[in-house]
Amino acid sequence: MVTFTYGHEKSRFLDAIDLYRCFNNYRIWKYIIAALLVLNKTQLSEYKILEPGCGGGEKLRFLTELRANPENCYGLDTSKRAIDLCKYLSPSTMNFQVGSVFDLAFENNTFDIIICSGLFSCFNDDNDIKRLSKALKRVIKDDGILFIVDINENFPIIYEKNEVTMQKKLRYFDSKKGELVSCQVNKVG
Ligand SMILES: C[S@@+](CC[C@H](N)C(=O)[O-])C[C@H]1O[C@@H](n2cnc3c(N)ncnc32)[C@H](O)[C@@H]1O
Repeated sequence: MVTFTYGHEKSRFLDAIDLYRCFNNYRIWKYIIAALLVLNKTQLSEYKILEPGCGGGEKLRFLTELRANPENCYGLDTSKRAIDLCKYLSPSTMNFQVGSVFDLAFENNTFDIIICSGLFSCFNDDNDIKRLSKALKRVIKDDGILFIVDINENFPIIYEKNEVTMQKKLRYFDSKKGELVSCQVNKVG
């Protein structure tokens, strides 16, 4: 399995970048598409794809524009409102469910691609990050790709006036320390 983080200097492992650029900007797709091409993972219509913490489901819908099969796309979120929105905005054959990433009701080795966009930063506790990694590791295929798109150390600078964010004390990942790499989900290692 290969783990990609968007924005990492070494480019092989995913790292974090700010919310604006990452979650809702086309540039993330440039990196995701490049990664798929480099790894020769271009048969999107055949892949099972999971986005835990899918929010409004934008990432999954975009993948269907790249020919992913809606029936093979699975979105999960603890927020019922988010899942209701996904169902409203997405093709009816896409699969959405309310639930936690810590309680994935999928068989082992199910997914070819997992996208975690803004999910890792929901957890401040190291144990939660380990649990999250373990949960993803179980359901991703050995040759699957895990994309982690998240905030990094630039986030507080960019959003320093955002009081809500500062109060929440979001966890972010330090690309220089390679923190995210150390908690990567890697079936080989
Ligand atoms: C920052 S939003 C990102 C939404 C979407 N992935 C995107 O990129 O636009 C994080 C999402 O993770 C969800 N979430 C938080 N904890 C979760 C958990 N334990 N299991 C599943 N989803 C969770 C939240 O409800 C929220 O919708």
